[in-house]
Amino acid sequence: MCGIVGYLGDNKASDIILSGLEKLEYRGYDSCGICLYNQSDQSFVTYKDKGRVEHLVHDFDYDINNHLAIGHTRWATHGKPNQTNSHPHFSLSKRFSIVHNGVIENYKELVSKFIPNTIFISETDTEVIANLIELFTETLSVDEAIRKTLSLIEGSYALLIIDTLSPNIIYAAKNKSPLLIGIRKEGITLASDLMALIGHADTYYPIEDKTFTKVEKIGNKYISEMFDIIGKPVQFVPLEMNMVLEEIGKGGYSHYMLKEICEQPSVIRKIMSKYLIEDQFTISPKITQMISAAKRIYIIAAGTSMHAGFVGKYYFENIANIPTEVFIASEFAYNMPLLVDNPLFIFISQSGETADLRTCLVNVKQLNYPTLTITNVATSTLAREADQFIEIYAGPEIAVASTKAYVGQVAILSILAYVVSSKKSFDLKLELSKVAIAMEAIIDKREYIHRLVQEKITKKSCFYIGRGLDYYTCLEAALKLKEISYIQTEGFAAGELKHGTIALIEDGIPVVAIISQKIINKNTRSNIREVLSRGANVLVISLNNVSDVTDEIVLVDVHEILSPLLTVIPTQLIAFYSALDLNKDIDKPRNLAKSVTVE
Ligand code: F6R
Repeated sequence: MCGIVGYLGDNKASDIILSGLEKLEYRGYDSCGICLYNQSDQSFVTYKDKGRVEHLVHDFDYDINNHLAIGHTRWATHGKPNQTNSHPHFSLSKRFSIVHNGVIENYKELVSKFIPNTIFISETDTEVIANLIELFTETLSVDEAIRKTLSLIEGSYALLIIDTLSPNIIYAAKNKSPLLIGIRKEGITLASDLMALIGHADTYYPIEDKTFTKVEKIGNKYISEMFDIIGKPVQFVPLEMNMVLEEIGKGGYSHYMLKEICEQPSVIRKIMSKYLIEDQFTISPKITQMISAAKRIYIIAAGTSMHAGFVGKYYFENIANIPTEVFIASEFAYNMPLLVDNPLFIFISQSGETADLRTCLVNVKQLNYPTLTITNVATSTLAREADQFIEIYAGPEIAVASTKAYVGQVAILSILAYVVSSKKSFDLKLELSKVAIAMEAIIDKREYIHRLVQEKITKKSCFYIGRGLDYYTCLEAALKLKEISYIQTEGFAAGELKHGTIALIEDGIPVVAIISQKIINKNTRSNIREVLSRGANVLVISLNNVSDVTDEIVLVDVHEILSPLLTVIPTQLIAFYSALDLNKDIDKPRNLAKSVTVE
């Protein structure tokens, strides 16, 4: 979703902002912009437009001596993606320039109460913030005017503010949306995502909700101070920057998504190395106690992470014997079910920033229930705000479509269920190692899957069918195919097809069936026959011990319970190659964002 980068320091600010915005491209956006201070003629320059950062980089002139700038990638919420609505936005007199991530919920009320006669240039809620600050500076200092504005606005925001009368200061504030301050002797970089700080900060700290930070050049030094809403200094402990540039490169692959698919065996191995101590899976006792004490687990997540949650439900119920339910975060947020006593809430999120989940977390915390976040981003909001968090260690996932974070989530869920189970009927360490090897075998055959895609997957629509654990993989497979290839795809419980949807099966419709469990093999195969007899073009993905000679993709056997980690791999490759052949923007599919920070 929207991305923010700001810089004040000795280096050329526009270089840092533009390369930072490029690193944030993966989050998804439709327009972008930059406002910088031209030190030579002491003026502010703004470039912004619809489209990619590439356009911003190539089509404007940065041959300017500049050391202070703010930039933004916008994912439209209020108003169309066009030049006018792109950030930065100005107050009416152009004194304040501002970039904003998030949504101001009460902007209409604020306009009618404080600035009813102001003429707005854009359709965005952001301009309201700039104009409120300007209004309040009629009687207050800039710091006070910003604090007063923050006390009035409701909703989510990460803000960078420039006062054009003070070109040595950047103000930053946040509520719910993430914002980080990266510190280095020669300058301070501000960004909504750690990625943009790589190479520009030795340490960093996340700004806390409802605080604001003033980044200032005093003498030859760059200082950053955090204040609460009444202006009292807030202490922070800087964290080490331990992410390196190589981690976010494509490493020779054509696309991030392909790289991330191919990294999945190493994700499994990395997770094992992180959580195995003396050959035993070891999780913090605080987490295991919280799981063991739960009468029922409520898993809350969205999209792909929710599909991992379904597999997690199976694990908690079948390995650990704990009843578990899975909820769509955006539904749970405003329709909380009747809860049992002693619940545990598990939030699963690759980014750790999904706004729908955060609303649920806030609601659940108000009820004093225990909370655990499973996330790939240790510094994220959901990691910080839950009672406990556990890290996936999948490494930065740049492609919008989640692949390696998904398998990381499923692997972590298997470990959590396993460590709290009283009877261990299998050796998880051994079985996960087998999964990593089996994943490699299918990844090595990816060109064969590409050929199958060309033979079987048409542009029109597609169905995935499976039962039990395979059904959950079908849901994930369908989401992956539709989100990057735009082919309408449904994941169906195989047995449910005949209750209505089979009406859509006609000559040539691709149906991909997944079979990994003995107990459902016979039934899924009879569902395959049903669609075949109606003309479907069927492709079967099966595990070796339940395979049929006619199955197109036969996977090396792994423990049945871990099969979702393996069966998902060919479906990711099917999605990737379908999108590739259709010439789609695989890493940045239309309308989507990597980190969904609005509800
Ligand atoms: C799909 C995908 C999304 C996310 C969803 C939740 O490939 O990535 O469906 O899973 O937006 O995001 P996180 O996991 O960051 O909470």
